[in-house]
Amino acid sequence: MAQKVQGTEDLYGGYMRAWQHMQAVAHELFDTYGFDMIETPALEQIDTFVHGIGESTDVVRKEMFRVVSGALFERLLEEGTEKGLKPRQRLAMRPEGTAGVVRAVVENNLVPQGSTPAKLWYAESMFRGERPQKGRLRQFHQIGLEWLGAPDPAADAECIIILMELYRRLGFDMSKLRLYINSMGDSNCRPAYRKKVKQFIYDHKDEMCEDCLERAEINPLRSFDCKNEHCQQIMQSAPLVTDSLCEECAQHYAQVKAYLDAAGIEYVEDPTLVRGLDYYTRTVFEVEVLDAGVGAIGGGGRYDGLVELEGGKPTPGIGFAVGFERVALALATQGVDMEGAEPTCVYVACAAPEQRSAVFEATLTLRDAGLRVEADYQGRSLKSQFKQADKLNALVCVIIGADEVANNTYTLRDMNTHEQVSIAQADLVDEVIELMYSAEFEDDVEL
Ligand code: HAM
Repeated sequence: MAQKVQGTEDLYGGYMRAWQHMQAVAHELFDTYGFDMIETPALEQIDTFVHGIGESTDVVRKEMFRVVSGALFERLLEEGTEKGLKPRQRLAMRPEGTAGVVRAVVENNLVPQGSTPAKLWYAESMFRGERPQKGRLRQFHQIGLEWLGAPDPAADAECIIILMELYRRLGFDMSKLRLYINSMGDSNCRPAYRKKVKQFIYDHKDEMCEDCLERAEINPLRSFDCKNEHCQQIMQSAPLVTDSLCEECAQHYAQVKAYLDAAGIEYVEDPTLVRGLDYYTRTVFEVEVLDAGVGAIGGGGRYDGLVELEGGKPTPGIGFAVGFERVALALATQGVDMEGAEPTCVYVACAAPEQRSAVFEATLTLRDAGLRVEADYQGRSLKSQFKQADKLNALVCVIIGADEVANNTYTLRDMNTHEQVSIAQADLVDEVIELMYSAEFEDDVEL
């Protein structure tokens, strides 16, 4: 039997409804802040990610799925090297959304200099070749938001407020959420800080792992994310970025916190929070759920240098992304069901093959009225059509037999009470809707 790739999932039924629900909640919320939806290709040139996310990050070095067409693959096998490939032939599946959105903003000139910021959001699959485990997939879904052209610390605070409001609307017990924030400085103050961390790693080189020694050379801040427990312990006493911020960054950070305080958002300052992607400057943040054991359910930050890295003019940016699968897992631990009720419908039952065209017409009329309508397409007996109607959550059955056709009537069956009434053909839509609403009221079933 064919099998799905490890670390990927099929989304259908209730799980699909949960994903759609999360998108609908995000859509309604983001709309009030003036964000429009964007979809960028799942395939981008590798350089888009390497420039933006950073060559030394785990995401780029170890986790990115790299793609070549079948014809090129043959050539690579023959030549034994990818050196002959042109940049536009070197592709990757997007491991995250920010770099692609920024590439699109630059390519389509969505923030002409001095004009209104671009405010964009997306709901897309991301691909990372990680070792699959609970809440860690190779294809997962993110809802993300990117705000290009807004340098004001109020934008940082608003992003965090939107993120926390999204969790609240999804039904989280907010007392169980921990929002961690930090400032990572900018191109002014970070180079000196990096040097300090590099020196710190060298001072502890006998105790740290090989990877960290390599990181000290290319990007020492990545050692804060090292999975080795001993390295983590040592990094606890490494110099803190918040002690090395320049005046402008310190002020920006103080203002972000003042706005969060004013909005009543609780946060924990974590000066070791560096995030796994290199494009961040100044504010970074991440959210975890206590006792859920799924890791971060969302994170983001400011990336004032990324547009330039993608070939555009200097344009500040900030955003966040939320992982659907982790949100679903974390909500389940809190007893919150994102799936909602299964959809209900009207079932049009056919007593005998002679009435098939009358059934066909009735289904069209009811669907025109916006109802979810099912019928039999397998030539079943009336009894098994009722069974099928029950399985499909039908609230009402419209029964059409020889008498109904002869008298220009329909028989309506309330699927809860099994009571039946005869109605005039012309009243079909009104009568069905009335019966469906009263059935909903009786049972509190979502329509
Ligand atoms: P990220 O922290 O790498 O940030 O991912 C955001 C969220 O995606 C995580 O908090 C987590 O919920 C989910 N996630 C990440 N990896 C996996 C995985 N392997 N399996 C399941 N869920 C996962 C970003 O991607 C940035 N682009 C966020 C951002 C937007 N920063 C600025 N703008």
